[in-house]
Order: sequence, then C-alpha cells, then structure tokens
Amino acid sequence: MIYIAPSLLAADFANLESDVKRIASAGANYLHLDVMDGAFVPNISFGAPVIAALRPHSKLIFDVHLMINDPIRYIDDFVKAGADIITIHLESCSDPLKVLRLIRSKEVRCALAISPATPVESIIPYLSEIDMALIMTVVPGFGGQALIPETIEKVRTVKRYAVSKGLKLDIEVDGGLKPENIHLATEAGANVIVAGSAVFGSKKPRKVIDSMREIAAEHIYQG
Ligand code: DX5
Ligand code: ZN
Repeated sequence: MIYIAPSLLAADFANLESDVKRIASAGANYLHLDVMDGAFVPNISFGAPVIAALRPHSKLIFDVHLMINDPIRYIDDFVKAGADIITIHLESCSDPLKVLRLIRSKEVRCALAISPATPVESIIPYLSEIDMALIMTVVPGFGGQALIPETIEKVRTVKRYAVSKGLKLDIEVDGGLKPENIHLATEAGANVIVAGSAVFGSKKPRKVIDSMREIAAEHIYQG
C-alpha cells in the first residue's frame, strides 16, 4: 500500500486547521510534520505545541520528522503532542539506537532518516530496529526543492536488504516528490511518499493525490 504524506511545511500557516482538513478530505493518509530547530538545519519551523493543537482536529497518522540536534531531549514532548510515528536523523545524535528504543517504548512507531550526504551503508545496521527508513531526497531544511536523483538508488538498496532479511519495513521518501517523479521512488521500493508543495500548494489536492496513487500503482517495486 502506498501512503501519501503531505508536509505541513507547505500549508497555510495562518489557517492550519482548515488546510489540514482540506488535504485529509483530498485523500491523504499521513500528515508529515517537519520540525526544524535552526541548528541541525538552518531553518526553524514549528514544535510540539503546534502538533498538539492540531491533534484533536485530525484523524490522519501524524508522521513527525525531527530535524533537530539531540532529539532525545524532546521525545516525550512529541509523544504527548500525539505523534504516531517519530523519525530522527542518524546525523543528529551520537546514539540513535537509544533514541529509537525510547520512541518504541512509548508505543510510537520509530523511524530513522539519512540525509543525501550520508551513505546508505550507515542505515543498514538499524533496519531491524525500526518501523520505517526515511531516505531524504533533498538536503533537509526547506520545502520546495528539486529531488536529487542519486538518492533513489539508496531506496533500492534499503528495499533489497529488507526483502532479503524478511524485514517488514516502510520506506519513506521526502523532498521534491510530485506526480512527475513518484514512479522513480515507488519503482525503487518506497511506499510512504512525502509531498509538501505538490499537495498543499495545489488548488486541487485530490487530483494530485489521485494521480500520485495511480502512477505509483503502475510503478511498483519488482525486485
Ligand atoms: C525538507 C522536509 C520535507 C519538505 C517536503 O527538509 O523534510 O518534508 O518539506 O516538501 P516538498 O515536497 O515541497 O519538497
Ligand atoms: Zn520531512
């Protein structure tokens, strides 16, 4: 199953509640929430209070992507805010496993992300410990960037490894995804597709989501 995860970063920040409802009724599965601290990445976005404020207004899966240094300090806050999935970056802390296990111990799905500059080999040892691997398809920090094609091979490597070891693992791609390039990601084995500007930026989000789903169904991983 393909899950479409529009990123709140591209929403109308003055009307978050109605914008989230708009993409939910357009058929989104997840709400991708990009938390940026101005240190791990150069940009600052929003934190746990915004997520907590949205929680009562949406049944979407809250997919929280932490682009912050030392995320262990804030796991409790994001759990309390209503996260269903928490993703941390491999590059953001010295002991990712400790943070991932903490997330799991709170009965929240745990995920690990790697930035484009991080080799795929570095995420392999963690795959048996996580619910989802996030392969960044842009340098984290800003929405609206173009997908870096070289990152797609990492998706294929992770997928092949997961299949060979019988691991049940979601693979998420994030950055620059749209109907024109979703086939690259799904063919390589991705099944959770973040799309910020493509979905929130559209006046017809249902059309965008439907066409992403259709194209993905025609371009599934074949090994
Ligand atoms: C980038 C974020 C992405 C981004 C996606 O740092 O993690 O989630 O907002 O937005 P688009 O789809 O516009 O590239
Ligand atoms: Zn993200």
